[in-house]
Amino acid sequence: MVTPLNIILVGASGDLAQRKVLPALFSLFAQKLLPAEVRIFGFARTPLTDAEFRRRTAEHLMCRYTPEAHECATMTEQFLARCHYVTGEYGKAESFLDVAERIQQVTGRWDGDRLFYLATPPSVFLDVARAIGNSGLVTCDDTESWTRIVIEKPFGHDRASSDELVAEFGKVFTNEQTYRIDHYLGKEVIQNLLVLRFANRIFEPIWNRDFIRQVRIVWKETLDIGNRAGYFDGFGIIRDVMQNHLMQMLALTAMERPDSLAATPIRDEKVQVLHAVRPVELEDLVLGQYVAPVGDSAGRKSYRQETGVAPDSRTPTYASAVLRVNNSRWKGVPFIVECGKALDEQLAEICIQFHDVPHNIFGDALAANELVIRIQPDEAIFLRVVNKAPGLKMRLETTELNLRYRTAFTGVIPEAYESLLLDVVAGERSLFIRADELAASWDIFDRVLHEIDDRKIIPEPYLQGSRGPNQKTGTGK
Ligand code: BG6
Repeated sequence: MVTPLNIILVGASGDLAQRKVLPALFSLFAQKLLPAEVRIFGFARTPLTDAEFRRRTAEHLMCRYTPEAHECATMTEQFLARCHYVTGEYGKAESFLDVAERIQQVTGRWDGDRLFYLATPPSVFLDVARAIGNSGLVTCDDTESWTRIVIEKPFGHDRASSDELVAEFGKVFTNEQTYRIDHYLGKEVIQNLLVLRFANRIFEPIWNRDFIRQVRIVWKETLDIGNRAGYFDGFGIIRDVMQNHLMQMLALTAMERPDSLAATPIRDEKVQVLHAVRPVELEDLVLGQYVAPVGDSAGRKSYRQETGVAPDSRTPTYASAVLRVNNSRWKGVPFIVECGKALDEQLAEICIQFHDVPHNIFGDALAANELVIRIQPDEAIFLRVVNKAPGLKMRLETTELNLRYRTAFTGVIPEAYESLLLDVVAGERSLFIRADELAASWDIFDRVLHEIDDRKIIPEPYLQGSRGPNQKTGTGK
């Protein structure tokens, strides 16, 4: 008999659940990648009937894999019929017993695999975990059927609070049952990093300080914080993006080759390289906060004018830093990381800049080679090389050897959450953040974050839609 899979989506009426998790589950369902006996139990405080929950959910579903209208309608209907809703309190074991009772009513069974997905504000993570534990729904022995829990950053706001969260979670769920998401690891181009580096003979010999001058990791959004002040103002851009998404990109770019693709060797190598990163100091950092142009015709606001932000808030919305990886591969190579909101463009990319040619016989200044790995908005990998421009004279021009995902590959590019959820269901852990990896990436920023708070550092203002504060991070010491 097939073991049923019951997905309990906690915080199901919220933005993350509605915009990301449910559409991703639908895509997997539409491709028949979920077990036949799957059910989704939305759980949140907002009172909703099953019908209301299904109506809300339907608004965000897209048939990316089944575009034909009739097939799309059938799939949508079948998926929604598997969605149910239970109203409850996050911190109450009784509410989770209500969920269990509902599962029993719907499926006719108490057992089955249980996947809890916490799409709630971080402030209630622990209450929810403890309530689930107290309800007795966590299996001790996962051989017959399993229990897994998925949580998503922010994992604490510094090293100490993160450690505490890990320890308290550990009282309810084992390490093997806990899946910590950094959704950047689910992105297609990020998943390609290991393949690009280690499945091609040409990169490994030049992937080091002898050939590489610097590495830039850039993450920019044009959007301001919108209605997320409640969360963002307490965290700021370093905790929101740099400590997690950017450190994952850095780890995959700088790590040594794992012995295999299994979760343990991959995560061991990531931890190792994160440990080699020298903790950031204040002079390595530039902090910024966006301001609106005076009398802005587009009605944009300064960060401090956003609803829910204190008028004297010191929270940075932009940060750049020069990081140093202290090992023999990278000694002396600056890793410049930059991230910000309300900037001039939408972009996430890793740019590997190579050294100049040692002896230039061409007279003209030569641009150094660059390998650009673009995660978004348009997935691409390109290499900037110098060529002779066609013509009767010797004229040099830098052009790109260009791989654009949309034209090079056929097929739909999966969303990060599709890939991650599929792995959770399969019990495949390499794309999830292990506790020691989390601690290692907090260690890079912990001291400087406290110093910024203690010394009440005021970020530099920068204009909405600009490239960030004037003072850009140099290449450091
Ligand atoms: C989230 C951050 O983790 O990632 C947000 O909290 C950010 O501030 C978002 O906007 C970006 O994700 P993506 O997938 O749209 O690049």
